[in-house]
Amino acid sequence: MVQRRNRFAIIGVAGFVARRHLDAIKHVGGELIAALDIRDSVGILDNYSHETEFFIDPEIFAEYLESHYGEIDYVSICTPNYLHEQHCRLACTHGANVICEKPLALDSTGVDRLQQLELETGQRIYPVLQLRYHPQIIKMKAMLEKMILSSKDIPLEVNVTYVSRRGPWYAASWKGNPLLSGGIVLNLGIHMFDILYWLFGPPKPEKDAFQVDPDFASDRVSGLIEFPYARVRWFLSTRYNDLPLDVRSRGQYAYRSFEINHQPIADYSLDYSGLHNTVYDEIVSGRGLKVEDARLAFDCISRIYEAAARTHVA
Ligand SMILES: NC(=O)c1ccc[n+]([C@@H]2O[C@H](COP(=O)([O-])OP(=O)(O)OC[C@H]3O[C@@H](n4cnc5c(N)ncnc54)[C@H](O)[C@@H]3O)[C@@H](O)[C@H]2O)c1
Repeated sequence: MVQRRNRFAIIGVAGFVARRHLDAIKHVGGELIAALDIRDSVGILDNYSHETEFFIDPEIFAEYLESHYGEIDYVSICTPNYLHEQHCRLACTHGANVICEKPLALDSTGVDRLQQLELETGQRIYPVLQLRYHPQIIKMKAMLEKMILSSKDIPLEVNVTYVSRRGPWYAASWKGNPLLSGGIVLNLGIHMFDILYWLFGPPKPEKDAFQVDPDFASDRVSGLIEFPYARVRWFLSTRYNDLPLDVRSRGQYAYRSFEINHQPIADYSLDYSGLHNTVYDEIVSGRGLKVEDARLAFDCISRIYEAAARTHVA
């Protein structure tokens, strides 16, 4: 018997990250049956299918979902962060599962509501946290588990750097508006903080386990987090001047690294856009991450803001 292909719809198809989802849908042999964007610059669709229905009006798209109730397996959400909850609701209440870009919501109460939505509708919401599938990070996790088990050099001294240069467009776009994106700590930091929790588990419960450096800015933040087995100094920036000189001279725009006890352990600066394929492979194989997995980074980020408020830096 020929198995039916998974059917997908996508919201936010004209944006930057949508291409990775379109590639991943193709990669898993999915059929893209519908797409929505409030902008009409969507010629990219022809690279994937000439059959995809395209909608520019969200209300007409909602009517389409209504008339195709339960016929779409997954809706991929690639819209700005502040719309994720709303679009998850639209998809789940029309009988589709969701593959949602990071961050799932703007805060942990949004995560609660999405879990409630899963319970009410019986649909699944899969967060995109693709760094958990990065080969260097998986290798580092195995190495850390051995180090922690042997209690060698505990607490580990860890330095995490995440510099991803952005041009002036960033501040002018929704990404530069903390009310729409969650600001640099959420929008950019979510990958880094998710990996820290995944590697080290929950941080120490004491308030001062979180510290934020006083030069907190909208494009550059740093601080310290104490985990039972590691003291992590973290640094997040979108400034060109924060890229190491050798990275700049190679013309690269990102520097993302982990150092443990002053030794470079993982450098994942190079393009990892192919990891969306792995995210989709996992989901259509019945695995995939849960909403609960995404909650970890939200806990971290709210404690960072508490620390910043305590020290009056944000
Ligand atoms: N996983 C990653 O590494 C990664 C990388 C980049 C972006 N992202 C995330 O992906 C999402 C999209 O980011 P982006 O860089 O593609 O942004 P973008 O601004 O380039 O694209 C967003 C798209 O959504 C569309 N849109 C806005 N409002 C809409 C609405 N009401 N209905 C339908 N479409 C609407 C816009 O027209 C635009 O085409 C964000 O959540 C972002 O945080 C994740």
